[in-house]
This record gives sequence, structure tokens and C-alpha cells, in this order.
Amino acid sequence: MMRIFVTGATGGIGSAVVRELIEAGHQVVGLARSDKSAVALTAAGAEAHRGSLEDLDSLRSGAATADGVIHLAFIHDFSQYDGAVTTDLHAVEAMGDALVGSGKPFVITSGTLMARPGRLATEEDQGSAGLPRVEAENAVLALAERGVRSAVVRLAPCVHDADRQGFASLLIDLARDKGVSAYIGDGSNRWPAVHRLDAAHLFRLAVEAAPTGSRLHGVGEEGIRFRDIAEAIGSRLNLPVVSIFHEEADAHFGWLSAMVTIDNPTSSALTRERLGWRPEGPSLTADIKRAQ
Ligand SMILES: NC(=O)c1ccc[n+]([C@@H]2O[C@H](COP(=O)([O-])OP(=O)(O)OC[C@H]3O[C@@H](n4cnc5c(N)ncnc54)[C@H](OP(=O)(O)O)[C@@H]3O)[C@@H](O)[C@H]2O)c1
Repeated sequence: MMRIFVTGATGGIGSAVVRELIEAGHQVVGLARSDKSAVALTAAGAEAHRGSLEDLDSLRSGAATADGVIHLAFIHDFSQYDGAVTTDLHAVEAMGDALVGSGKPFVITSGTLMARPGRLATEEDQGSAGLPRVEAENAVLALAERGVRSAVVRLAPCVHDADRQGFASLLIDLARDKGVSAYIGDGSNRWPAVHRLDAAHLFRLAVEAAPTGSRLHGVGEEGIRFRDIAEAIGSRLNLPVVSIFHEEADAHFGWLSAMVTIDNPTSSALTRERLGWRPEGPSLTADIKRAQ
């Protein structure tokens, strides 16, 4: 049994991680930046530790007084993404400093979109230089040389259940606004996905047993064709599904256009082998179709 400090413990994925940890017999201390979050954590059976991503002392003390840390909090304001990435890096560095020499596990969160080798990405692939969150990945992995059992979980862009589907939820909202569900060209570019509860299970296995300095892939499905995602959205909303030209992508998708063209097939074979993780949730398209 460990006492585990969890940031982002009130979020979509974090709340499932808290449940998973408590059911496995761990104690959870969750970072709470408001009364509302503190109440939610207590109701979930966790302790609340007041603080925020911007209050580095609160992060240091949360990490120092726990047996391990899972870092999931992130400021999801895509209009100020660079600032959110910098805040995340400083938070990772502060918690890392508090853990140096302790041998304790420190698991942070990144995304599969940060490793784009131009073929099926594996856990051996470093984050691609210059992409967001790669500096935080590298900072935590460097802690392996400084007495921290550090690991990064790269999550697929669509962490899904029947209520929320990560980036696919943004595409659903956009399709509703535009009256069509679109894909670009032949829509053969692929996105990986993972069910929310499978992702939560992976975070527990990682904090319990991830090898020092490991990259792990939270990926249940290696690569779903973007056209299949667009068709699932069209079927759910009863909207036409259309192909659009690359030149029309910015006008249709706005800031999401950079995402919808990415081909991001990603393997989790090494993660499954290292931790005995077996994702078993329903597929992304099944969850999109039955979402409310
Ligand atoms: N969902 C996906 O499909 C997906 C895909 C790839 C990667 N990820 C990554 O996975 C992690 C968890 O994502 P999620 O979907 O669970 O996020 P979420 O539902 O948006 O929850 C965000 C969490 O971060 C906390 N938070 C936000 N700003 C904070 C601040 N300034 N100080 C302290 N806490 C703050 C929130 O606390 P409050 O409750 O107080 O707001 C909440 O607990 C994130 O790193 C995310 O980028 C998610």
C-alpha cells in the first residue's frame, strides 16, 4: 500500500485513477485548487491537499510527503497552450526536485502526439524535438539518474468513454456547428485511442511497477482511420460525412486543423509486456456512436 499524491485528481482521467488506486488499497492525496475540488476528493475517499499548478511549494510538499506521485493536472486552455506547457514543465521540475534521491515513483502524463517518428511509434521513440510537453518528458526521464523511479505515460489524443472522447469531443462539437462531419483527403491518417478506465488502470500499474526511466503508451487501439472517426460522428449526429481538400482544412477546423491531418499510429506492445497491462474497453467509434 502506498500513499500517492495525484494532481488532476478531480479531472476526467484523474477521478478514474483515484478510484482505481483506492480500490487497489492505496491512500490518495489529491491536489485541490478550490473548495469544490476538495469536497469532490473527500467524497471520493481521498484526502485533499490545497494548492495549484502555479503554487510550486504546494506541489513540492505534496510530493515530499507521499510515497509516489501521479501528475495529471494540466491547464486545458488551448488559446494559451504555450503558457500551459511552461506551467506544466515548472510543476514537473518542482515535484521532481522534491523526490530526488528518494527512489519513489513519479509518473507524469504526455501525449502520443509528442512522438512522431513517421512510422508506428513505440515506447523507444524519444519525443520529437520542439513539440509541446517533450521538455517535461525529458525532464522526468532525466530524474532516473537522480534516484527517482520516473516514468512518462503518453496518452492517445482520444481518452474516451460514453460521456467524453478527448479530442473527438471537440470534433463532435465542431460537426454539430458546421452541420457536416468532415475528414481531409481520403481520411486515411490514423489516431490512436484508449478507454478512460484502461488508462486509469495503466497509471496504477505504472506507479506500482514501471521500470525506472520508462516511456509507456496509453494506447488501446493503435490507429483508427480519421475517416472512420468522422463517420462515427456523422452517424451519431445524423449528419452528412464529407471529404474536404487540405486547402480548406483551416477554414473548416480552425486551430484543430493541425491535429486532424496528423498520422499518429502508436504501439503499446512494450507497455503491455512490461506491466502486464491489457486494455479491454470498448472502441472509440463505439463510444462516439453511443455518446449522449
Ligand atoms: N482527455 C484526453 O483525451 C487526453 C488525451 C491526451 C492527454 N491527456 C492528458 O491527460 C491529463 C488529464 O486529462 P483530463 O482529460 O483528465 O483533464 P481534465 O478533465 O480537463 O482535468 C484537468 C485536471 O487538472 C486540474 N487543473 C487544471 N488547472 C489546474 C491548476 N492551475 N492547478 C491545479 N490543478 C489544475 C483540474 O482541476 P479542477 O477540477 O480544479 O478544475 C482537473 O483535476 C492531462 O495532462 C491531459 O492533457 C488527456
